[in-house]
Amino acid sequence: MLEKVEALKQEVLNFNPENEAELEAFRLKMLSKKGEIPALFKAFRDVPADQKKAYGQQINELKNLATECFESLKNQFETQADDFSDMDLTRPGYPEDRGSRHPISIVRREILEIFNRLGYVISDGPEIEDDEHNFGLLNFPPEHPARDMQDTFFIEKNPDVLLRTHTSSSQSHEMQEMEPPIRSITPGRVFRNEAISARAHCQFHQIEGLYIDEGVSFADLKHSLLYFAREFFGEKTKIRLRPSYFPFTEPSAEMDVSCSLCGGKGCNVCKYTGWLEILGCGMVDPNVLDASGIDSKKYTGYAFGMGIERIAMLKYGINDLRLYFENDKRFLEQFRMEI
Ligand code: PHE
Repeated sequence: MLEKVEALKQEVLNFNPENEAELEAFRLKMLSKKGEIPALFKAFRDVPADQKKAYGQQINELKNLATECFESLKNQFETQADDFSDMDLTRPGYPEDRGSRHPISIVRREILEIFNRLGYVISDGPEIEDDEHNFGLLNFPPEHPARDMQDTFFIEKNPDVLLRTHTSSSQSHEMQEMEPPIRSITPGRVFRNEAISARAHCQFHQIEGLYIDEGVSFADLKHSLLYFAREFFGEKTKIRLRPSYFPFTEPSAEMDVSCSLCGGKGCNVCKYTGWLEILGCGMVDPNVLDASGIDSKKYTGYAFGMGIERIAMLKYGINDLRLYFENDKRFLEQFRMEI
């Protein structure tokens, strides 16, 4: 018996756990109810009376030794866990992987803000349209090539239903539903049945402007667009209006801005012309006003429409339309710093 006690004592003295799990195993083996030491106490009952004293002393010593050993090691492990001395509290945190705005959203927002400052109200129109709003009310003759299946996505079962090919369709709604003065700026997605390439896509985004009131003139149009161009591309920007044709405006024009990359000197972005085409515009054709119930003898107005993809391409030097729709993080992450 005493040999056993001696062996356990040695075991306690040599015990040197590496972790708390080993310490717990020690407690179970030695001190727990079914452990070695309580077993020795049970055995104490059968020890002959003359040996009881010596034996009792030994097992008490063993018990104290084991308990002390356990307690002090437990304390040691606990203080180790609380020890932050090797932690660098000044180290910056890990960066959060934040999302970023899409370049189309950034540019749309910026354009809307500029026109908003001029008093334009931001409005909205449906992407699914009828022939009347996309074409008819906008003075497109029935045989006009833009209605061709090549350009327009029609719904097969009902050729009167189509996906709008331009945001000008929202002009039709506004003129029908509102009384002048109307001053709106309308962003939206438009669809054209085109093969997808670096320069063409079957869906893209436009922003439409419309202003109708008494005495609105071409000079007002020109000045609003000049203001926009300078706010967006920089204060030294020049604009140029070239005569053009749209069925719903008369006269019509296309607007160029002086190339913001080379300052008008000529570079490969402006194809050495010094100018970049950014939008179509014109005075609302009196036929269009009358068709929507606005008295063209009393009111005049102007409209303009621009493609957001194209303007974002010029702003960021993007050379392929498809990048906008591919959701490639390597492309999108480059706009992280923008708001
Ligand atoms: N809707 C025309 C287009 O898609 C642009 C435009 C809008 C032209 C308003 C004149 C007035 O190209």
